[in-house]
Amino acid sequence: MGKGTGKGKIIIFGEHFVVHGAPAIAGGMSNCSKVEVKKSEKNGIITKQKVVEADSIRAIEAVLASMGITEKYIVTLEGDLPTYGGLGSSAAFCVGMVRAICEDRGIHMTNAEVNSHAYNGEKAFHGDPSGLDNTMATHGGVVAFRRGKTQSESKFEFLELGKPLDLAVSFTGKYSPTAKMVASVAKFRADDEAEFAQLMDEYMKIEIEGRKAIEKGKLDVIGQLMNENQALLSELGVSDENNDRICKIAMTAGALGAKVTGGGGGGCCIALAKDEAHATEIAGALNKAGFSSFATRITK
Ligand code: MEV
Repeated sequence: MGKGTGKGKIIIFGEHFVVHGAPAIAGGMSNCSKVEVKKSEKNGIITKQKVVEADSIRAIEAVLASMGITEKYIVTLEGDLPTYGGLGSSAAFCVGMVRAICEDRGIHMTNAEVNSHAYNGEKAFHGDPSGLDNTMATHGGVVAFRRGKTQSESKFEFLELGKPLDLAVSFTGKYSPTAKMVASVAKFRADDEAEFAQLMDEYMKIEIEGRKAIEKGKLDVIGQLMNENQALLSELGVSDENNDRICKIAMTAGALGAKVTGGGGGGCCIALAKDEAHATEIAGALNKAGFSSFATRITK
């Protein structure tokens, strides 16, 4: 038997654009997936969370194959990271699983190795993931991530936070179909390369300014840039009706900015608050409107 954990994440800037080579900025959450593994006659998953069993089993098989293991495992998923989509739960599951298997087999792995095996699990879930989520699930922190041609060529750097970020995280009620949303953005690009390139240019400016604002703790600027990022995500077609409603309610509650976080098409949104009490207030307004929400703080 072995145990391992993987961390959840919030994408502050750059979901989807990161799949196509732009840098994204994300922050680790304290919520995490706790995974336990036990050798068994066949692979399987046990959890009270909502998961697609076939996808989870494909990911278990992919991680085992990546680690060169032919034995089979029952994998139990617990922890306080919701599997809504958007908070990196599939990546956290894969990272926790790699670490748990290492503990079971007495293997020592570097974080880079854990990350690389978890990426193969993520591919089984999401087809063509950027590698951002598994990198965040492995390391946490506040990170600027850029996809390389291969996972080992991807680059990430830890950023300093000028001020902690207090956020309300809100669930649309619909689980985000991340793989489908990634495929729909790829289609958007294939259908109109010029339009996509223009959105990408606009996003690149947001990332440059966003990084500076995060490092200097300029909350107003971060919020404004989150709104601009949200407008681009809407143009890409990944912000659905409820994503839009959440952003509107959060802005009415005084949020500095609000956007989809993660794959969209449902899943989760984030709203930047002025401080901790304000994040709780925004989450309260969203809960009242029927969107399950909580306040969280990104500190480093
Ligand atoms: C999902 O959390 C973020 C996406 O950009 C996909 C990816 O980076 O693999 C939508």
